[in-house]
Amino acid sequence: MCGQEQKYVADAFDTNWLSSVGPNIDAFEQQMGERLGNGVAALAVSSGTAALHLILRYLGVGDGDRVAVSTLTFAGSVFPIRYLGGLPVFIDSERTSGNIDSQLVTEYLARAAKRNELPKALIAVHLFGQHCDIDAIVAACDEYGVPVVEDAAESLGATYRGRQTATTAPYSILSFNGNKIITTTGGGMVVSRNEIALQRMKKWATQSREASVEYVHRELGYNYRMSNVLAGIGRAQLTVLDDRVAARRRIAARYRDGLMSIPGVSLQSEAPWGTHTRWLTVMQIDSMIHELTPTDIVRSLDAQNIEARPVWRPMHTQPVFAHCEAIGGKVAESLYGEGLCLPSSSSLTEADQNRVIETVHECLSDGLRMEATWRQMQRVDALRAKRNHSTSQFDHIAAQNARV
Ligand SMILES: Cc1ncc(COP(=O)(O)O)c(C=O)c1O
Repeated sequence: MCGQEQKYVADAFDTNWLSSVGPNIDAFEQQMGERLGNGVAALAVSSGTAALHLILRYLGVGDGDRVAVSTLTFAGSVFPIRYLGGLPVFIDSERTSGNIDSQLVTEYLARAAKRNELPKALIAVHLFGQHCDIDAIVAACDEYGVPVVEDAAESLGATYRGRQTATTAPYSILSFNGNKIITTTGGGMVVSRNEIALQRMKKWATQSREASVEYVHRELGYNYRMSNVLAGIGRAQLTVLDDRVAARRRIAARYRDGLMSIPGVSLQSEAPWGTHTRWLTVMQIDSMIHELTPTDIVRSLDAQNIEARPVWRPMHTQPVFAHCEAIGGKVAESLYGEGLCLPSSSSLTEADQNRVIETVHECLSDGLRMEATWRQMQRVDALRAKRNHSTSQFDHIAAQNARV
């Protein structure tokens, strides 16, 4: 928290605006719209998952409808598809950022169109604070009339070609869960330029109560509005968003300085199209070089009272989605198998971070001694050459940009 939250929360108590209407909600929505720019407006709701549920319902997703979605994400990106009876189609990642692979999206849509199996919508997730290549995805989807939803739950503060995240597709969601870059302890937003859609979703989020004195309901609704108390926390948090992004980027830079000397360790790179907020710093550990898995390292850090997390386990490997279609998946699986989210809280001190860096060094230098034989290093070089040849999307984009 930044210290200003209590003032807005106290206002809510003093004025007795404690429920799902009130000045904090109005101001938080207004200020978020202004902050994001590009003509968008915001609807404050109880979670990012609720926001996505409302959008998918608005887009008409129902029983048996396909919805394409990034496979490397948190379950909250996918569950709302199932709430509506839809069928997720999981799309693999590109290797450099882990975000949805735009080339795969293009190929998948062409095949789906031929079979008359186009998805009702596509959800593009911006993973760990980095924007996906959304223009390429929107262009591919526009060709087939498939609406794009941005899942910007993890990317508030990130930019894409001069635009703020959550303004680059017709519908977007934000999350203010406790672990996000700014928080209301729990909460989310729908963001869109479509005022009619926002009004409709607002009604559904308030139990679909009709505008009459009596309690009349003509359609199903949900209790999804954000409370005026929590919106007060959000108002204060929004004022420190830029500071939070700067702090997280400093933390990532320090990890880079402290960890890059370890062979086979890399940090997620920053795409040429915008600012990565480094909501979470993701470290990749080359499994050809290191015996230890990310889970081993999470456990070793945990033994030192340091909280790290594995990368999201891809959704196409989740038991709950075992019956669902997947387009590729091996890249996401390898990013999961070799990835680790380091402690990235903006309140992390330099001393805290030094302790993380030292512990990672200790774990990995032990593993390296066991594994790094000359024969193995040769195998690694060959594999790496093959991988770099086929998958560095950012290099490809950088080369394109250089030609322009
Ligand atoms: C990518 C992504 N999508 C959706 C969600 C769901 O947001 P919420 O927790 O606010 O429901 C989260 C995380 O919380 C997330 O990380």
